[in-house]
Amino acid sequence: ADVKKIAVIAGDGIGPEVVAEAIKVMKKTEDVFGYRFEFEHGLFGGIAIDEKGTPLPEDTLAICKKADAVLLGAVGGPKWDNNPKELRPETGLLGIRKALGLFSNIRPANVFDCLKEASTLKPEVLEGTDLIVVRELTGGIYFGEKFRREGANGEEAVDTCVYNVTEVERIVRQAFEIARTRRKKLASVDKANVLETSRLWRETVNRIAPDYPDVELEHVLVDNCAMQLLRRPSSFDVIVTENMFGDILSDEAAMLTGSIGMLSSASLGEGAFGLYEPVHGSAPDIAGQGIANPIATILSVALMYRLTFGYHDAAEAIERAVKEVLDAGHRTGDIAVDKSKAIGTTAMGELIVNAIRK
Ligand code: NAD
Ligand code: IPM
Ligand code: MN
Repeated sequence: ADVKKIAVIAGDGIGPEVVAEAIKVMKKTEDVFGYRFEFEHGLFGGIAIDEKGTPLPEDTLAICKKADAVLLGAVGGPKWDNNPKELRPETGLLGIRKALGLFSNIRPANVFDCLKEASTLKPEVLEGTDLIVVRELTGGIYFGEKFRREGANGEEAVDTCVYNVTEVERIVRQAFEIARTRRKKLASVDKANVLETSRLWRETVNRIAPDYPDVELEHVLVDNCAMQLLRRPSSFDVIVTENMFGDILSDEAAMLTGSIGMLSSASLGEGAFGLYEPVHGSAPDIAGQGIANPIATILSVALMYRLTFGYHDAAEAIERAVKEVLDAGHRTGDIAVDKSKAIGTTAMGELIVNAIRK
């Protein structure tokens, strides 16, 4: 069979714990559907700083570049929090996104019926919530020039936010295309009442919107969007926004689903290649305890199958298995109403693996 090369960069904290379960899921789909994967592991993040002196070693990047897809856990932790910029795990994460040209970050938040009770919001508010945040991933304030300088009142820090028309246009077009395959609604989120980059963003959206007359477009200011996400989450379909707004809004959207441990993501460029990772971080507060929710990472595998490989049967089987296990009442601590009945990472992974069938 056609063997797909998967670069695995598990990273720090709960990264390796949740990635291990995702790999078991991938192996099960080899048995059930006959797909074939070859896994190659690379050091990444804090552990790479410790062992190689850099968060994104050359050979790790090389493994990713020759792979068909990348499976990433998470990076970061208190151990490296006071390091200079080049020796921070997060710098490696931004570096890999940029080096692989992954400008589009797709973060779906759909509410499993049986998890409505797990959310901090009222179940009736969540009814029918199924949205995708499309986050621009290689521009904006994350990648603008940063520096310190001596100002009139002492030391100053500067972060610059830059977007060009090409960067805005390619992500917005992708979001329009995604909206077309769904409920055909696009919310473009910006801060055009204040920011110049946002005014360019909005102008660009309005210029290309006539190419998608079948999609209903609304512009929402980011502060209002943060509020509307809690007030009327089910009215959103696709949300497209710049890098930092998308980072913040997607963590907020996670709470609609009950936990950040449920939110998967795909990072894409122009082609089929993609990097797949949970939206959550390395969760140092629970790392090493075997209690992290592996579902975000497992659902990221389903995204990989759909978006990079076109393995729709196996993607559906994974999503069905997750739903079946949740419907049966199994919960990790983050989504459990009765925490005393919570199960661990490997138990959850095993239940999902066992529920995967044709
Ligand atoms: P976090 O997402 O790691 O954790 C936030 C909270 O959610 C914590 O209480 C954590 O226990 C909980 N949580 C997260 N994932 C969970 C899971 N799968 N199951 C159960 N509970 C889960 O965010 P943070 O605490 O702000 O950041 C911790 C570190 O992770 C930082 O170093 C940060 O830079 C890094 N980070 C990395 C990524 C990434 O690698 N993509 C993303 C976000 C944060
Ligand atoms: C994410 C994370 C990263 C980001 C950090 C760790 C650099 O929060 O993937 O959402 O802000 O993009
Ligand atoms: Mn984030």
